[in-house]
Amino acid sequence: MISFRPKDLSTGRLHAYLLSAVAPRPIAFASTIDSEGNPNLSPFSFFNVFSANPPILIFSPARRVRDNTTKHTLENVEKIKEVVINIVNYDIVHQMSLTSTEYPEGINEFTKSGLTMLKSDEVKPFRVAESPVQFECKVNEIIKLGTEGGAGNLIVCEVVKLHIADEVMNTDETINQEALDLVARAGGSYYSRAKNGFFEIPKPLKNMGIGVDNMPEHVRNSMILTGNDLGMLANVELLPTQKEVMQFIKDISERYPDIKSSSHREKHKLAQNYLSFGDVESAWKLLLS
Ligand SMILES: Cc1cc2nc3c(=O)[nH]c(=O)nc-3n(C[C@H](O)[C@H](O)[C@H](O)COP(=O)(O)O)c2cc1C
Repeated sequence: MISFRPKDLSTGRLHAYLLSAVAPRPIAFASTIDSEGNPNLSPFSFFNVFSANPPILIFSPARRVRDNTTKHTLENVEKIKEVVINIVNYDIVHQMSLTSTEYPEGINEFTKSGLTMLKSDEVKPFRVAESPVQFECKVNEIIKLGTEGGAGNLIVCEVVKLHIADEVMNTDETINQEALDLVARAGGSYYSRAKNGFFEIPKPLKNMGIGVDNMPEHVRNSMILTGNDLGMLANVELLPTQKEVMQFIKDISERYPDIKSSSHREKHKLAQNYLSFGDVESAWKLLLS
């Protein structure tokens, strides 16, 4: 492992390490206006949601590493304290990327990218009509994190109205994560399309998992089971009873005639196979046999 103190790295190299490691990041497609009312649209992946009550989103236009200049979005929200944060899906990813071009002040990136300006209800900046979720926000606070090139400026936004496209809504009024088709930014020129990599993990909040520390030693110190396997096994609330274990072994003995005399290693491998299908219960029954 290679280790650094930030002060021993150039800002450019540090920036690249941070952006590759803290990834993928969601993208705030921020629409603002200047004091003459000229629209501006730019993407920012230093972005996330931080509170639901009040509903707070924060994004950060940084001072340029190259020459320590500031971005139009920051300059705009310093004067007109409103912004629409539009969510970026796969259908608009190339147009979004185009808007990050450093066009001169006053150039409308809606026009440059061919995206459609849609009037907002509560704020002056426009929404991106093609974006599936649009947050109209008031800027509560701007927190400057430094004065040198690379310093972030946290724009703390309070959502005053949100708009969600019908096409991404389920009938129970939840958002359909697949239909939303979000994209995210990673290091260099990498992006990811969220729905290509989705998987589900049952929320540990629903039960009180026994934890790795309460597992039998041969399971905890297994040479076969991985950290993820242990995490799944540790999320059960109760271990199967001896009676359930015996019944399970009886049930599978036709398929695995040698199961009773199998070594820990062999049982761990088979348990791992059950885990790969999400069958934690059978995996435990095998491990406890
Ligand atoms: C996907 C993506 C994410 C970006 N994220 C950020 C960011 O979080 N902070 C930042 O300062 N610049 C970021 N940029 C670069 C800005 O979008 C770019 O500097 C833009 O020209 C700023 O426009 P403005 O001067 O009109 O505000 C990002 C660019 C892209 C394509």
